[in-house]
Amino acid sequence: MAVLDQLNSQQAIDLENKYGAHNYHPLPVVLSRGEGVFVWDVEGKKYYDFLSAYSAVNQGHCHPDIVKAMTEQAQTLTLTSRAFYNDMLGKYEKYASETFNFDKLLPMNTGAEAVETALKICRKWAYEVKGIEENEAEIIVCENNFHGRTTTIISFSNDPVARKNFGPYTNGFIKIAYDNLEALENTLKSNANVAGFLVEPIQGEAGVYVPTEGYLSKAKALCEKYNVLFIADEVQTGIARTGKMLAVDHENVKPDVLILGKALSGGAYPVSAVLADDAIMNVIGPGNHGSTFGGNPIAAAVAIAALEVVKNEDLANNAEKLGQLFRSELSKFIETSSIVNSVRGKGLLNAILINDDEDSETAWNICLKLRDNGLLAKPTHGNIIRFAPPLVMTEAQLLDCVSIITKTLKEFEV
Ligand SMILES: Cc1ncc(COP(=O)(O)O)c(C=O)c1O
Repeated sequence: MAVLDQLNSQQAIDLENKYGAHNYHPLPVVLSRGEGVFVWDVEGKKYYDFLSAYSAVNQGHCHPDIVKAMTEQAQTLTLTSRAFYNDMLGKYEKYASETFNFDKLLPMNTGAEAVETALKICRKWAYEVKGIEENEAEIIVCENNFHGRTTTIISFSNDPVARKNFGPYTNGFIKIAYDNLEALENTLKSNANVAGFLVEPIQGEAGVYVPTEGYLSKAKALCEKYNVLFIADEVQTGIARTGKMLAVDHENVKPDVLILGKALSGGAYPVSAVLADDAIMNVIGPGNHGSTFGGNPIAAAVAIAALEVVKNEDLANNAEKLGQLFRSELSKFIETSSIVNSVRGKGLLNAILINDDEDSETAWNICLKLRDNGLLAKPTHGNIIRFAPPLVMTEAQLLDCVSIITKTLKEFEV
């Protein structure tokens, strides 16, 4: 078989199983094409994508404006490294900084890298601006967080599968309950070495946990009171996913440090970023941090195009409108359902809670049936299924999806 011969689904799965590390447990479906809200498998079967690559493909698969920007830039200049200037990076930094109302942007590639970057900025700020004694800074994080997979990030995870046998772990993190202002204030009050509070505005991977209204704005006020940086990880919630450009916008919060990734490129290319104002970002100087690919011309061109699509197509409002419709339709179904307990979420980041044990196979089996019925979704943890379609979906398509989902769920009613 030649390397690029067309494979059927089973052949593709077999190859990954044999030659790839088993660090994921994919749903058995092999995709070879995507357009808008749809993807096709190698046998030509069409599906609604209800995961959007973990909210990276908010702008829809292969959005023509993003593909155009990417291919034009790929034919012009791909990579210079930051050893030299390139004529795209500054334009992108200006455009994104103005879009999110910050002075500066630091470009990276993946979400985890951007989180690492934010942690480094926060620590350096702690020593050089706040005046904490060197190596004593602490950063508050939340239980059940998900911020990525690096050694430092998993050091403050409480997911045993993500952590076990990857120690020794990085020090300097204090874990508190999510959506608990008392825990936050007690920790801030009792520890003068706290430099930052790292938080997901909605906990996506944990199962789409939406905090109590007012949590984010009050947490921000507490951070101000104790001179601690409020660091928002909007890698999954950002770029219109929850019905506003940023999830913190629902509470009119401006983070001190903003972390973006995923849909910053519309899923076309790995692009992430950290944004902050000068008083914070200027702690970073030459040699303190970097990445060969961070800020490359393709990434810059793609990110500008991806953000323009979000604005031009008013994707935040579409996510808000369709999200309300989705939850209200699912709620109607749940009233008489024995298999689903609840639906929750914001905008088009939603999840249903399956009425079964956390370690049961029911959610996985429902996802297999959804696949058979033409819709792709994946459990987050155990009995929770996340529903996060591309934001370019129409109302008619959403209602079609609701009928696929409810029809499938009915097959599991006891
Ligand atoms: C909130 C959050 N932060 C960080 C990450 C890590 O991003 P990446 O997988 O691009 O490293 C994710 C990925 O799901 C995420 O949801």
